[in-house]
Amino acid sequence: MPRARRVDAAPRHRRRGATPPRSIPRPAPGPAAALLIARKRDGGALTAAELDGLVAGFLRGDVADYQMAAFLMAAFLRGLDAEETVALTRAMLRSGDVLELRSVRRPKVDKHSTGGVGDKVSLCLAPLVAAAGAAVPMISGRGLGHTGGTLDKLEAIPGYRVALDAARFEQIVRDVGCSLIGQTDRLAPADRRIYALRDVTGTVESIPLIVASILSKKLAAGLGGLVLDVKCGRGAFMKTRARARALATALTRVGGASGLPTTALLTDMDTPLGLTIGNALETKEAIAVLHGGGPPDLRAVTFALGAEMLAVAGIERDAARGRDRLARLAESGAGAEVFARMIRAHGGDARVVAEPDRLPRAPVVVEVSAARSGHVHDLDPMALGLAAMALGAGRRRAEDVVDPAVGIELCAPRGVEVARGAPLAKIHARTRSDAGAVAGAVAAAFRVAPGRPRAARRVLERVG
Ligand code: URA
Repeated sequence: MPRARRVDAAPRHRRRGATPPRSIPRPAPGPAAALLIARKRDGGALTAAELDGLVAGFLRGDVADYQMAAFLMAAFLRGLDAEETVALTRAMLRSGDVLELRSVRRPKVDKHSTGGVGDKVSLCLAPLVAAAGAAVPMISGRGLGHTGGTLDKLEAIPGYRVALDAARFEQIVRDVGCSLIGQTDRLAPADRRIYALRDVTGTVESIPLIVASILSKKLAAGLGGLVLDVKCGRGAFMKTRARARALATALTRVGGASGLPTTALLTDMDTPLGLTIGNALETKEAIAVLHGGGPPDLRAVTFALGAEMLAVAGIERDAARGRDRLARLAESGAGAEVFARMIRAHGGDARVVAEPDRLPRAPVVVEVSAARSGHVHDLDPMALGLAAMALGAGRRRAEDVVDPAVGIELCAPRGVEVARGAPLAKIHARTRSDAGAVAGAVAAAFRVAPGRPRAARRVLERVG
């Protein structure tokens, strides 16, 4: 993060004969950036050309970090209307390259998740959708805080390289049907710089800013369609269903208005998804889905999102048929075969698909058991995500290095009946003392009580 520069009341370069130092920003093209900030502060709207000038000026260094931060706060407090959000998305998209993937003949679709605990869906979804005939060029991110990241899970596979150039990415998407790589510096670079400012100025939780951030990156990836998994609940970015719906609605509208057919599913993140948290553990669970197994909730979310992707790609119109088709591709091993080919193309050890025990394993496994008999009524995803992070599975800061082997295995998901002393979870740790340090938090994340809790659905609603 560049440090904010000091703002002097009487800038030196205004004095006669002084040459403007490089650190003092020149005004933005068109109306000065300060006027645009003031207009947004007072609730006015900015034109597409003005937003373009602001973003381009920021990247050039003509608009200072503190001016962009002020604009972001004004946008956070006053909001952006639909036209402004589309214009900001386009301005951020234009800040870098746009992949065309011309040699890929299949319909190109992707899925984006707003992130949660235990969310390993991308790993099993992309190969299944590719096996059904679509192309999935997926540009993914790393985990931060209590949430995991797809790239960290892929890097649990020995040798898997997430940094490939655009030509190799296109070749793998064309030949295999899917490729999962990391964000490059060349796609939507404005988003990276703006996000860094939002992160330290309390402006992350703004729906129009989130929409522009997500869609500028997705539009840069040369897609023909997009499906969003907007998670809602305690372990998600959007805590309530109303907020999640508002984000999903804005994303689908702005996606459509930007020429990218977009649909969204709201999915529940009040408890972790599946039975594992931690990179190699989650990769293993995604491989189980590709072999026709895996936990029912993970299968349900994967097949529901996949069916939407097949619909947006024009491959299968009916969601029920799409789900059945994906389930069959998992049973037959066709998705597992695509995953193995993709791993090989990325330089990884594809044997993990047939032999998942080749994935890294933690040297210490410690059980956490139930203090009383009853049904599991609740598992706090935030507490479990933070415990996994403390073990080394996630990052406190962006520069932290993750340990692929460690994490938490859930033995008793919501609704299961347990006897006193039965295992609730297994902590996979580097050392006994690491496991001991989180054991209390893991035990406290479970609520075991008498009576059976009401069944909870994972897929809540469709928007778009
Ligand atoms: N994910 C993104 O890519 N951007 C945001 O602003 C929030 C979540």
